[in-house]
Amino acid sequence: MTSRILFVCLGNICRSPTAEAVMRHHRPDLEIDSAGTGDWHVGAPPYGPMQEAAARRGYDLSALRARHFTPADFDLFDLIVVMDAENRAAVERQRANGQATPVRLFTEFAPAAGMDQVPDPYYTRDFDGALDLIEEAAQGLSRALT
Ligand code: 4NP
Repeated sequence: MTSRILFVCLGNICRSPTAEAVMRHHRPDLEIDSAGTGDWHVGAPPYGPMQEAAARRGYDLSALRARHFTPADFDLFDLIVVMDAENRAAVERQRANGQATPVRLFTEFAPAAGMDQVPDPYYTRDFDGALDLIEEAAQGLSRALT
């Protein structure tokens, strides 16, 4: 059973904390967390413009704090969901022998969007576009789990 899901991006201040909050909205019954493959923002709240865009849709990111992905996360979660291929490679580099936790691209759960990654709004500045894709993929993931 998939009851513990970890969302992973690079900084853990834009895409994955948003995915965490949106998914928690759909599935309050599951254990959901997020982490970053980079450590620059550890301890920081989500990026201001991301928080503001999410808040306009009713998602409160303010209590979240960035943390660094660690190899122990393979044991702590049933499913790891990454935002892009770079995240996936960084996560896979930390997989120890015997750890079989699946790693999936979030966009796999939003096939109609035709995207192979969630573009990083920290660079694109398209926070609403990221939210659109994250909401669609969270709905798809939620359905895939039922
Ligand atoms: P995220 O976006 O991976 O969606 O949290 C980023 C935010 C900050 C940085 C990189 C990605 N950064 O390098 O500071």
